[in-house]
Amino acid sequence: MAVQINPSILSADFARLADEARAVEGADWLHVDVMDNHFVPNLTLGVPVVESLRKATDTPLDCHLMIENPDRWAPRYVEAGAGSVTFHVEAAGAPVRLAREIRALGARASMALKPATPIEPYEDLLPELDMLLVMTVEPGFGGQPFLDIMLPKIRRTRQLIAKHGLQLWLQVDGGVSASTIERCAEAGADVFVAGSAVYSADDPAEAVRRLRTQAEA
Ligand code: DX5
Ligand code: ZN
Repeated sequence: MAVQINPSILSADFARLADEARAVEGADWLHVDVMDNHFVPNLTLGVPVVESLRKATDTPLDCHLMIENPDRWAPRYVEAGAGSVTFHVEAAGAPVRLAREIRALGARASMALKPATPIEPYEDLLPELDMLLVMTVEPGFGGQPFLDIMLPKIRRTRQLIAKHGLQLWLQVDGGVSASTIERCAEAGADVFVAGSAVYSADDPAEAVRRLRTQAEA
């Protein structure tokens, strides 16, 4: 499993987004958190910002939609330039149809689970997806402590992926840092989102390299 490190621009300076996007050269994807103040109690950015970011960096964009009605909006983020679009299963009306639409438009389709949402009811959906996101905090804010209690879910999800012989990526998001990334990797995650751990560092690109080394260990 190749390790991927995706810095979250939620912890960047929004007035200098282009510079902040370029400050993490060497990152695999730039993680873009879209929040609508309905699905989560916070508001961030939308389609026009993604369109501008697309022009500002060559790093592909990993859009994490924490919004109601992703069925309507996810395709708009593909058109805006996202290479991967993650919708929350708790918000999606028709997750299979949505995943197929995202793929048909040319992006990777990904589904996210909040901490209290189990993976088991969605086992049959796995072949429709390119990535599964297991949240390791309640979505809505950067800088929250990692929820250790999610480690068994990461492990079970990796086992389900293997059982079906799939190549799905398994992403973790929330509280991923130098002190938690090894446990996530050991449990079976291979795509790591890190916001504050990257953007609070003096050298964000160096922070990405260090996280990668730790995850690969
Ligand atoms: C939280 C977001 C995360 C957030 C992670 O709802 O989905 O992507 O940016 O931030 P850290 O790494 O600081 O927990
Ligand atoms: Zn996120």
